[in-house]
Order: sequence, then structure tokens, then C-alpha cells
Amino acid sequence: MSSQKLVELAKRRGYFLQASGAYGGVSGFYTFGPQGAALKGNVEDAWRDRFAVKEGNQEIDAPTIMPEPVFEASGHLDTFDDMLVECAECGATHRADHLIEDNTELEDAEAIPISEVEALIAEHDLACPACGAALAGESVEEFNLMFGTNIGPGDSAPGYLRPETAQGIFVEFPQLKEYARNQLPFGVTQIGKAYRNEISPRKSVIRTREFTQAELELFIDPEEDEPDLARVEDVEVTLYPVPQQQDDDGEPITTTIGAAVEDGTIASAWIGYYLGIAQRWYDRVGIDMDRFRFRQHLPGELAHYSVDCWDAESELDGDWVELTGFAYRSDYDLSKHGEYSDEDFTIFKQYDEPKTVERATVDPDMSYLGPEFGGAAGEIADALEALAERDRSAFEGDEVSVEIDGETYTIPVEKTGFAVEEVTEAGEHITPHVVEPSFGIDRVLYTILAHSYREDEVDGEERTYLELSPEVAPTFVGVFPLMDKEGLGELAEEVATDLREAGLSVAYDDSGAIGRRYRRQDEVGTPFCVTVDYEALEDGTVTVRERDSTEQVRVELDDLVETLTALRSG
Ligand code: GAP
Repeated sequence: MSSQKLVELAKRRGYFLQASGAYGGVSGFYTFGPQGAALKGNVEDAWRDRFAVKEGNQEIDAPTIMPEPVFEASGHLDTFDDMLVECAECGATHRADHLIEDNTELEDAEAIPISEVEALIAEHDLACPACGAALAGESVEEFNLMFGTNIGPGDSAPGYLRPETAQGIFVEFPQLKEYARNQLPFGVTQIGKAYRNEISPRKSVIRTREFTQAELELFIDPEEDEPDLARVEDVEVTLYPVPQQQDDDGEPITTTIGAAVEDGTIASAWIGYYLGIAQRWYDRVGIDMDRFRFRQHLPGELAHYSVDCWDAESELDGDWVELTGFAYRSDYDLSKHGEYSDEDFTIFKQYDEPKTVERATVDPDMSYLGPEFGGAAGEIADALEALAERDRSAFEGDEVSVEIDGETYTIPVEKTGFAVEEVTEAGEHITPHVVEPSFGIDRVLYTILAHSYREDEVDGEERTYLELSPEVAPTFVGVFPLMDKEGLGELAEEVATDLREAGLSVAYDDSGAIGRRYRRQDEVGTPFCVTVDYEALEDGTVTVRERDSTEQVRVELDDLVETLTALRSG
């Protein structure tokens, strides 16, 4: 199946289409039609059921626009860049690493420094895909992917559309920890829009500028908290770890989660746990497990916040596409927000028994720091205090030095009032670590459609159908009167109303030959169709047709709701 066929079906049957088409469309923005919006809702519900409800996590819903300081702290302002090359001939802009990956054997140009990217463009004589002009000699620049805006009139309060939903969770940590009664581990989920000003959006909803993420941020004490691996240890997975990727003949390996954590292939037991939970979930929503694997990030690929990361990937048209990132973010995000804001991003960890510990303190002689060091006295005192906490060996000699804004100040130790005292502590403040499964819902949705796309022949005619699972299928049942006369239409409408009242999503269709109506629902992926024919008027039974086998059985009208509801719940 080509992606073009799928994209055409998606538009024809109401799954997705390029947005603002009446005005020429805008690259990287898609509207989900009636079927697409319903499928997306079902996938999100299935995600919520698994990663929020069944895991005992709390869900939040934060704004999509956040003020600039959030992204100064998170590192996105400085480092959330892609490599851009502009064609001097026609002005078209391209993502440099995509140009290279599409035209050379290299698979991960993103991990290569800019100077080498420029050399690769020259070496491979790469040309502008828009006008064909040579790109050798064009300079490659870092392009920040965040969409900027101004909050309120004027430009005094810059803001950005969030590039990941995660930041909306991290910034609320000081309050979220209270909701969790300051007990680790606890998890917070969010399903919502994220925005990235992609240089080259492509492959329809696979790489867009506005997309939906479903993210779980699990806050843990790295020294104490362990996942319940027994729940997933038998899950069989295909893994593509770094050593296999770096070996020319290296192939992905098939193993179990338990074995991979045990032998260290998956370094973090928490990541292993979520790979297992996620693998079962992908299977549940209809992703083909023979076209699915987990690939570990190569060192140069890691995001600025990530210590280790595995991607769930699905095979689409011969390419492997990232669906989800499972990142070990360590204490990066909470430490940064703690540093940049005035709030407390730590958790107080109570010891089982109070502990007597040594504490280094300073009590600087301000009358000495004052005249000698001018305006910096207060800052020196703070720096000495922080240094005493961090590294008391710095006070072992006669003098101690601190650096403030690039300037070094040297002070006699006796003037710092340095002392070590014994104190009894009930606990300590720790900065939790974060484990993050981050799902791209649009890509999951596209893969479900691509992996369920089938072509066969029925009664000598070619047909296309989507083998969607009843849980996610946007329309569960089609209801057709054989003809709209002699009471058949009225009876069919009654049937449709009863099924809707029972919570099933129904497509009512009374136009065209019955075979065409079946074909329409097959293309939408509707698992069942009910036809109300003349026999229904005589014996109170209707035909129920199953999509994949096209088999038909007669069911009593009185049993119809119950029969179909049972089929919906599997
Ligand atoms: N909070 C972590 C994070 O955002 P990411 O790997 O950058 O990690 C997570 O994104 C997921 O979001 C990806 O695995 C992918 O499914 C989806 N995603 C990222 N950029 C996307 C884009 N431009 N269009 C559609 N989905 C995208």
C-alpha cells in the first residue's frame, strides 16, 4: 500500500485533510475529519485508560502558551534547533539533515556538527529540491523550532507555544507534589497540542507543525523506587540497541523485557517497564507487531535533557518512523526550574530514623568583606555558604576562593567563620528524577490506518477496507434499510436510534446500491453493518455483516443491541 493511496482514502472518507485548503492550504497543518476526530478520540481514550487510569496516574490540562522564562529554564530557547539551509537561487528553505539522509547512505545527519553537514552537502553535490540549484557553499544555520508570540499588547511579555506538553507538567510540580502528598513515585499525564515550526513538514500527519502528544511524567526517587517488572517481564520485544546499530551487520534482537533489563540491554528498569506496558498497548490499538520495534538513541541523537532514550518505531512504506520516545530525563527539568524560578522543585524525603550528620556552615566577617570587597560582599557570603555545603575541602587551606560573574575573590578562611557541626536531620530535600514515555498521537493514528489497510476481492470486485479493531474504529456499525419504502426506512431509523442510545457510533446510510454502501463502510473500517430488509418486517430479524470475512448472519431485532454491544467490548 502506498502512502498516497492512504492519504487519498483519508481525505475521501473523512480521516484527515490538509487544513485551510480553501486558501491554498498550509504545509504542516491538518484537520481531522469526522472519522479522524473520532478515531483520535478513541486512541486518546485507550491511552488514558492505560497510562493514567490503570497506572494510577493523575491527568492535567495546562495552557499551550507559556512565558519565555519557562523555555529559558528548560533549555528549549538555546538548544531546540534544527539545521536549516536556504537556497540562494529560489529562497526555498530545507532541513539540512533531511537533505543528507534522503540523498546519501547516512541515516542520522542530525547528530553531525554543522561544519560536517556543510561538507557533506558539497561532497554529495546536493541540489535544492525546489529549483535544482546546487547547494554547495550555502551556509547551514541553527533554526529554533518554537513558535513565538507576545502575551498581551506590546512585546514586553514574550511567550511561546509549547514544543512539548511536558513543560506544562514540570512547571506545576510545586503544586502537583502537594496533590501527591509529597510521596514518590507519582505520575502525571497530559494529552494536548504541541507546536514545532518544522522546517520541512512531511509525510502528511507524520511530521506536522501542530500535533497532539500524550505524555506521562513519572517522578521517582532514583535511589528507592523500582517498577513492578513482574507485570511485564514476559513481554516479547524486538530491540535495536546502540551496539547493534553501530555494527555494520548488527540486527535487532528479539528478547523479553525481563531478560533485557537483567542483562543490561535496557539500562533503566523503569524504561523497560514502560516498553512492556506500551508494547501491549500498541498491539491493543491495532499496530502490527511484525512491523514494530524499539530502537535505542545513538549518543549524538539524545535530546538536551535526556540521559538514555528508546523510541518505539513502526515500519511505514519501508521506513522506520518514531511513534514514541521513552526518555530517562534524570533531575534535569526539575533542577532547572528550581534554579530559574523562586519555587521549590524538591521533595522532602523523610528518613526511616532521624540521622546525625555533619553540616558545614559559614559565618563571614562582613566588616572584613565590606571594605575589602566593595559591593560584592553579600554575593560573596552567599557563594561561601553554597561552597561550604558543596565542598568543605575548599576550606582546608588558609585561603578559599569563590567565583562570581567570572571574577575570582580570595578570602582568608578565618574570615569566613567556617565550622562543622553535628546536627540531627529528620530527612533531606531531593530533586526527583523523571521517566517519560512521550507518544505522538497523530503518528500512532497514521500507523493504525496504514497497518490496517487491506485490499482484496469480493464477488469479483476489488475492495479496500481498514481492519480496525472495534475499540478504536470511529464508526462501529452501519445501518441500512434495503430500500427506503414500505416501512423499511422507519424501522432502520429506529434500529439506528436504539444502537446510538446504547452508546454505539452508528452511520445511517440509505443511498445507493447496498453493495456500494458496504464498500463505503469497509473503507471507513466499520466492523459491522446491519441491513433491514423485507424479512425484518415478516420475522423481526435483520442481517448483520462482519467487515473482514463479509459473512452475514441473521439476528433477532430484540437481541441486536445486546449482540452488538458484546462485540464492541470484545
Ligand atoms: N517530551 C518529549 C518529547 O517531546 P519528542 O521525541 O520530541 O519528545 C515525542 O516527541 C513524540 O511526539 C514523537 O515520538 C512523535 O511521535 C511526536 N512528534 C514530535 N514531533 C512531531 C511532529 N513534528 N509532528 C508529529 N508528531 C511529532
